[in-house]
Amino acid sequence: MATVTFDSATRFYPGGEKPAVDRLDLEIADGEFLVLVGPSGCGKSTSLRMLAGLEDVDGGRIRIGDRDVTDVPSKDRDIAMVFQNYALYPHMTVAENMGFA
Ligand SMILES: Nc1ncnc2c1ncn2[C@@H]1O[C@H](COP(=O)(O)OP(=O)(O)O)[C@@H](O)[C@H]1O
Ligand SMILES: [Mg+2]
Repeated sequence: MATVTFDSATRFYPGGEKPAVDRLDLEIADGEFLVLVGPSGCGKSTSLRMLAGLEDVDGGRIRIGDRDVTDVPSKDRDIAMVFQNYALYPHMTVAENMGFA
């Protein structure tokens, strides 16, 4: 585990009128369990995708521990993401789904 820091992290989808995520500042402590709650379209998935390296970060920085991963490829971040709709095994716990790969 490690700390996770969003430092003014911003994502502007091409063609969008405004940023999907606009200067997100968030510090998550080592071992902290954090839940993002908000209406559909407020940027929860985009924030997670930026952390996982599945989405470009158009402004600001993202750090995992002391490492700035903003421009690090997804495969080199040592991070996993479980998607909400598919590729989940319903008979497994969250931990078992995470560990399966
Ligand atoms: N691939 C995409 N291309 C363009 N706009 C997108 C894309 N994905 C999400 N958006 C837009 O970005 C905003 C945030 O979406 P999203 O992060 O999926 O929100 P949430 O997960 O909180 O429902 C929404 O306005 C959504 O329409
Ligand atoms: Mg979502």
